[in-house]
Amino acid sequence: MEKPFFITQPDDWHLHLREGEMLATTVPASARVFARAIVMPNLSSPIVTIDQAKNYKQNIIKHIPASSNFTPLMTLYLTDNIKQQDIITGKTEDIIFACKLYPQGATTNSEFGVTNINKMYPLFAIMERYQIPLLIHAEVNDDKIDIFDRELAFIDKHLIDIINNFPELKIVMEHITTVDAVEFIKEQNHNVAATITAHHLLYNRNHMLAGGIKPHYYCLPILKRSTHQQALIDIATSGHNRFFLGTDSAPHQLDKKQSCCGCAGCFTAPFALELYTEVFAKENKIGQLEKFASFNGADFYGIPRNTAKVKITKKSWQMPDFLDYDNEKFKLLGANETWNWSANIEHH
Ligand code: NCD
Ligand code: ZN
Repeated sequence: MEKPFFITQPDDWHLHLREGEMLATTVPASARVFARAIVMPNLSSPIVTIDQAKNYKQNIIKHIPASSNFTPLMTLYLTDNIKQQDIITGKTEDIIFACKLYPQGATTNSEFGVTNINKMYPLFAIMERYQIPLLIHAEVNDDKIDIFDRELAFIDKHLIDIINNFPELKIVMEHITTVDAVEFIKEQNHNVAATITAHHLLYNRNHMLAGGIKPHYYCLPILKRSTHQQALIDIATSGHNRFFLGTDSAPHQLDKKQSCCGCAGCFTAPFALELYTEVFAKENKIGQLEKFASFNGADFYGIPRNTAKVKITKKSWQMPDFLDYDNEKFKLLGANETWNWSANIEHH
């Protein structure tokens, strides 16, 4: 057997925990190896006020296992009517970590999202002044733009302009999926970064569409062709310090995925570190995993790196099909496949 190796405990910089009873499943699943997670605010009733953010955080905390040091980092959901004061108070009272911009209609629960990004500029100026990061679902929602081109269209239409106007604003292009995004982010300065999911590293659109349509691979931004996948693998495993781990784990009930109009989102958080490790190992880049998973995000956001260690062991195992709570089923991405690495937090 190969010798296990250790990395600093990682963080998940983009996570959907959902709400209510589901937290009993999702929170322990992420808390198993991740120390911190940026929690997305797109609940069915989105998190748009400080009171909602506080309340949501309390509900999450109730489900953190006693043995875990998990810390949820809360976000506000930007709408056309979001109150400037909520954002300022959220930051000054240390309730929110960042704000999330969803173009209206771009993805799951984005119907309250922003309709005109230019009108948000006064708010971006406030965020820049108070040093509140702007996290972006960077896709245009436009019927005339092909779904595979919506990320690039967002860069051209909005992102360049936002970056030029707010050079001191920390901006994260979330869950990037294209070589265009990789190249664009590389060209920016230290205030602009990107997260990459495990599923965009492991899969491409053939996995979703060739030989039958497989709805569990359907997420937004949608999986692209393999050349884009390879560009993501190359940058994630390169050690470049402005690309880091964000699972975008986004569970939906089985019947909402396997439907005539299935929901977007892949459920990866329970074994996410194992999935990422698989990618780095296949590339012979295990040595770069810690930067991507545990250092780059913390450094970008200007918060301390974690100190605990995670032990990663080479060992084949089969992912179970589902994680259940009560009678609901949540299918895991990578279910029934064999995986070669397993990760466990080391308690001292
Ligand atoms: C996410 C969800 O279900 O909340 N879905 C997804 O496909 N990624 C929303 C999002 O991050 O786009
Ligand atoms: Zn997301």
